[in-house]
Amino acid sequence: MTRRFAVGLATCLAAAGLVAGAARAEGDKTIEGIEAYREALKDGNPAELFEAQGEELWKKKAGPKNASLETCDLGMGPGVVKGAYAHLPRWFKDTDKVQDAESRVLTCMTAIQGIDVSKYVAAKWGSPEKDELNAIATWISGMSKGDKVAVSTAHPKERQMFELGKRMFYYAAGPHDFSCSTCHGQEGVRIRLQDLPYIASPKGAAAGWTSWPAYRVSSGQMWGMQWRLADCFRQQRFPEPIYGSDVTVALSMFMAATSNGATMNTPGIKR
Ligand code: HEC
Repeated sequence: MTRRFAVGLATCLAAAGLVAGAARAEGDKTIEGIEAYREALKDGNPAELFEAQGEELWKKKAGPKNASLETCDLGMGPGVVKGAYAHLPRWFKDTDKVQDAESRVLTCMTAIQGIDVSKYVAAKWGSPEKDELNAIATWISGMSKGDKVAVSTAHPKERQMFELGKRMFYYAAGPHDFSCSTCHGQEGVRIRLQDLPYIASPKGAAAGWTSWPAYRVSSGQMWGMQWRLADCFRQQRFPEPIYGSDVTVALSMFMAATSNGATMNTPGIKR
């Protein structure tokens, strides 16, 4: 462990109120509570409502071109949604970019519906615009539920994004010199009774990647991975990343490819 990392970690744990020892019992109780809640909701994750809304938005004619998103190519051919999320992010020929579900939807809204998506990109979390995007991503993700994550890093741009995501994961900066790794770089760390997955490991990457978009019980909101990442940038005391930007896709690429082979459990349900 480098000194910088050690100092960063200590600051992180102190600042964020990491619990250990005696407080663990309480933590276990909380985890049990969440598990019980999950169990109770098994037959009815409220995310289903967002899936239904997302499907409706996908099929609804909209924008200056009065077209639906039904011909959108998510990487499996135009209009194929089933199984697409398990292969994302991936490189797309038409944009020559590696895209996740959310950034790809923006591309389709622009190209197929003629919508100026800048207002969607700039809209605040919880706004109707962002809720629409979250609902669409939720529906797409649900169409890969039970599939194995199969993200390719064969194309040079995919490889590049994976490497960029990995670098970003370990990149420490900001007032506390935090990186993602400060909080997600080892097994068994908790903050405010939350288990923090060790994201650089296949198991930890899968714990995060395969369960988002997720319905958040604490706030009653549906969060896609873009929102999850934006909130972790905030916890990291970093400026908010632009929705769908390369750095967010790169981090997703790192997590997704690291969790290859794991089973998609989307949409998920979280605290
Ligand atoms: C200051 C500590 C901190 C930093 C830095 C941080 N996170 Fe997080 N992260 C958390 C906490 C706390 C949670 C659980 C959040 C909750 O339930 O509200 C979390 C949750 C997550 C999850 C969901 C995990 C799951 O099991 O569902 C992912 C994925 C994630 N973070 C990725 C990242 C990435 C990528 C970065 C770097 C850009 C990062 N985090 C930086 C504290 C942090």
